[in-house]
Amino acid sequence: MASLEELKEQAGIAACSFVSDGMAIGLGTGSTVRYSIIELARMIREEGMSIVGVPTSEITRDLATNLEIPLMELEDASTLDLTIDGTDEFDPRFDLIKGGGGALTREKIVALASRSMVVVADHTKQVETLGRFDLPVEVHATSWLGVKEAISSICSGGVFLRGGKIEPFVTDNGGVILDCSFGPVIANPGHLEREIKGISGVVEVGLFVGICDAVVVASEIGVNTLINPDGRLKSSGGVKE
Ligand code: 5RP
Repeated sequence: MASLEELKEQAGIAACSFVSDGMAIGLGTGSTVRYSIIELARMIREEGMSIVGVPTSEITRDLATNLEIPLMELEDASTLDLTIDGTDEFDPRFDLIKGGGGALTREKIVALASRSMVVVADHTKQVETLGRFDLPVEVHATSWLGVKEAISSICSGGVFLRGGKIEPFVTDNGGVILDCSFGPVIANPGHLEREIKGISGVVEVGLFVGICDAVVVASEIGVNTLINPDGRLKSSGGVKE
């Protein structure tokens, strides 16, 4: 039986079939996409691929730098060809909850600057309705208490400052994260995203709606590539015209 770690590796590597020579690629954050990044480094080293990456976090920047993947900043790239990233949950409409690693703001900026987004996941991330995983929301460090109160009025399971008050988790942007326990009831993620984004002090919400084009999901029975029929990727490969 394959371990969860082996499934992550299989998904991470399989997603690199979407990569071609000359691409500028958004490099996501997390333990699954880590395997994609290692595979990209191998493709550069062993296959002579010319690839440039845009990291979505400082941790990914360090990993890619150590692996000698050429990097550039998002402001120096007009459009990226592809972003590969992990997810905490994905639903049948290819909507996502992200931010378990706290990198949701840059992850969303980079994904939205890309012509396509491919998500890598093991089968435990697949859900019918989003929300079993607490929804991460990045907030300005000075505003977390007010935002927590505002979100609490719509979130029955509780809103928690990641890391706690004494030693809060601080994002790469200097913000903090509120983890919001909605439960598996987020039937209209677009509506919830807009509602939370409207609260003053919110930097970004970990709901990715209408952004993901494909999920490469690994399970005991193998690796399956799910193509979003409303997305930008063709099932035969490449980007739709
Ligand atoms: C980081 C993320 C990650 O992509 C998400 O948490 C999944 O990570 P992992 O592959 O380690 O389960 O959104 O902000």
